[in-house]
Amino acid sequence: METETKERVIAPKKTQKLRLLSGMRPTGRLHLGNYAGALQNWVHLQHEYDAFFMVADWHAMTALYEDMSELPDNTRQVMIDFIAAGLDPERATLFVQSHIKEHAELALLLGMFTPVPWLERTPSYKEAVVDNQDKHLETLGFLGYPVLQAADIVIYKANVVPVGEDQVPHLEMCRELVRRVNFLYGNLFPEPQPILSQTPRLLGNDGRKMSKSYDNCIYLSDGAKLVEKKVARMVTDPARVRRYDLGHPEVCSVFDYHKHFNKREEPQIAEGCRAGTLGCVDCKKRLAAVLNEMLEPMRAKRAELEAKPKRVERVMADGAERAREAATKTMAQVRQAMRLP
Ligand code: TRP
Ligand code: SF4
Repeated sequence: METETKERVIAPKKTQKLRLLSGMRPTGRLHLGNYAGALQNWVHLQHEYDAFFMVADWHAMTALYEDMSELPDNTRQVMIDFIAAGLDPERATLFVQSHIKEHAELALLLGMFTPVPWLERTPSYKEAVVDNQDKHLETLGFLGYPVLQAADIVIYKANVVPVGEDQVPHLEMCRELVRRVNFLYGNLFPEPQPILSQTPRLLGNDGRKMSKSYDNCIYLSDGAKLVEKKVARMVTDPARVRRYDLGHPEVCSVFDYHKHFNKREEPQIAEGCRAGTLGCVDCKKRLAAVLNEMLEPMRAKRAELEAKPKRVERVMADGAERAREAATKTMAQVRQAMRLP
């Protein structure tokens, strides 16, 4: 697997860009971790690839089917975050998974030859079922999560899939399924390659893993004052009790943020921290200022979109139309290859 994930993808020709697909589950508004770990990269990738970005609402449903009340709003909010963060609906195809019913049909067909033990061995499955006993995840839907994800990818014949490390087993399963399809029914799909984004280590402001369920994240949609407040509460190097104590930036979660979002000042900050000349309060003020500078244009874009709800609907409808065109074309080939009417 190691070597396979490092396989190089042939550079796209100017005229014929490679197809890219990725998705995010709408479990809430997006936070800085989602931005740094995925979205920021997607914004660059949309220029190099024929890119499809999807709000994976069916995937979100696999874990929250018992309470769907927030899903429609979250789906819309994530779409707004996509656009506000710089995904360009004129350039990339932005769509909502459940708008393209063909994904479900293809997932069903892939399921015909997906061995259940493969799914049961998926690390994300085993862990999630144990960790979330209250969510009752021993369902066909949740077990089949990677099959649906494979359908998402191959229905667009995607060549590359930008994902974080945690998604590599799903990509690997997708590749296995592609090999099966191509062997059983003829060459239908390319084997998708992951583009691994290194997820920078960004902790929540309580020092725990950044997570919506811990309520410790800075959201892309947070206002400037709230960002200042959240940054001020962040956990720092415990050795720095007084202003002039010598610090260790490498153990400080504020510094992790500087490393990712404030490369320019990173060296001075590390130096000032170690020498005890930079206080944590000032260090955090610098960080909040840098984050707010980055988030300000996103807030403006978001406000613009919220003022014109029709605009977001249109983006989703246009995206769905483009996605559907590609998906129906693939499905016609799939049905024919599988001898379905
Ligand atoms: N499972 C992915 C995640 O949680 C989201 C996702 C759904 C996805 N379908 C996809 C990612 C297809 C890449 C390709 O991050
Ligand atoms: Fe962290 Fe900055 Fe304080 Fe150093 S000065 S401990 S990097 S907050």
